[in-house]
Amino acid sequence: GISRRKLFGLGAAGVAAAGAGTLAVRSLPGEDATTHAAATSDAVPFYGEHQAGIVTPAQDRLHFVAFDVTTKDRAELVDLLQSWTAAAARMTQGQEAGAFGAVGGVPEAPPDDTGEALGLPASGLTLTIGFGPTLFDERFGLAGRKPKALADLPKFPGDALLPELSGGDLCVQACAHDPQVAVHAIRNLARIGFGRVSVRYSQLGFGRTSSTSRAQATPRNLMGFKDGTANLKLEDTAMLGDHLWVAAEDGADDGADDGADWLTGGSYLVTRKIRMHIETWDRTSLAEQEAIIGRTKGEGAAHGSAKEFDEPDFTRKGPDGESLIADVAHVRLAHPSSHGGVRMLRRGYNFVDGSDGLGRLDAGLFFISYQRDAHRQFVPVQLALARQDVLNEYIKHVSSGLFAVPPGVRDAGDYWGRALF
Ligand code: HEM
Repeated sequence: GISRRKLFGLGAAGVAAAGAGTLAVRSLPGEDATTHAAATSDAVPFYGEHQAGIVTPAQDRLHFVAFDVTTKDRAELVDLLQSWTAAAARMTQGQEAGAFGAVGGVPEAPPDDTGEALGLPASGLTLTIGFGPTLFDERFGLAGRKPKALADLPKFPGDALLPELSGGDLCVQACAHDPQVAVHAIRNLARIGFGRVSVRYSQLGFGRTSSTSRAQATPRNLMGFKDGTANLKLEDTAMLGDHLWVAAEDGADDGADDGADWLTGGSYLVTRKIRMHIETWDRTSLAEQEAIIGRTKGEGAAHGSAKEFDEPDFTRKGPDGESLIADVAHVRLAHPSSHGGVRMLRRGYNFVDGSDGLGRLDAGLFFISYQRDAHRQFVPVQLALARQDVLNEYIKHVSSGLFAVPPGVRDAGDYWGRALF
């Protein structure tokens, strides 16, 4: 095949530099624009103990896809996962998915890469795969390998889930600093999967709504609030073991074993597409918006505190004797102290899918969280929010997904899900 470098007559540095010049780099206030520009064109290592795209500092763009597996042949599924892994290892390093151009002397065959990312740098692309509960039905002989923690999420009050936008046998989260690179990656995985998987739904996201590293400035969601302040972050190594990564089975009767050794070093992914009633929110007073969230809009400080990263004090009361952070404020309901200390790593994105035909933006938050056990972490928090959060007047959950995220691919001989199969 013709490599990207040969096509453009550039060395690796030239490719990176040429691509970096074409990128619309978006640094946030408080971030160094030059460092950010270099970082946005860089490649994130693909091989490792954990999959990239979880604690990797959240990139600017998302293309998330859920697939239904259409083949009933286990060997074909394994073959697909091997091909996907090889393509992902290449694309995340800024190379094309497969050979570009005629392959094997068959000039009429379509190219092994769709071509729209030629000349672009890696752009921080990460590809993270997840296995949905339905993959463990009778089709592939995996029922005995299904982790207990992959049981379906319960129904939450107010859920308005659309089945065609929920679930999926497999998912891939593509994150990158350039939307063209993220879309290219998903498009090529779908192309490689033709005849074995079909796209169930996919979601584009722009503008991360979380920081997953202390080196990142906190972005804002479409409600205008800083989002990701009190998040689990890359640097919290000790807490990541407790709250993020599935640990090896130890046989202890503490409920922590989830019946799946193949998932050691992996995690669980929850997705919720949350539509915002943006126009209603925009007509709500600033004081009410801030009371609902429990933090100020400008600084992002919890009520009663001065700075964004000051720990909220939920005991502080105002002159009227009422709590400064309302009992039903989002941050109080979601705070670890309300749920026996549980935390999650949030990694969501803003979305605007055009308008809804009724003069309103079809916009919101594509919520993504990673945790060691969604039933012990996401579920209690979401239950409290669904029951009491005043934010519910302004949002609607329209899609939901739960996926077991296998550990990282160790080297070129390994593939996504090898330990499962
Ligand atoms: C915190 C917005 C949905 C869990 C926050 C904060 C904002 C926010 C502005 C404060 C800043 C921060 O610490 O990140 C929203 C919006 C949502 C939404 C607009 C829906 C459209 C959810 C959902 C969950 C969740 C579905 C999980 C079930 C949390 C958690 C925190 C948080 C755990 C941190 C609480 C703390 O430790 O202080 N959210 N959120 N949020 N949110 Fe949400």
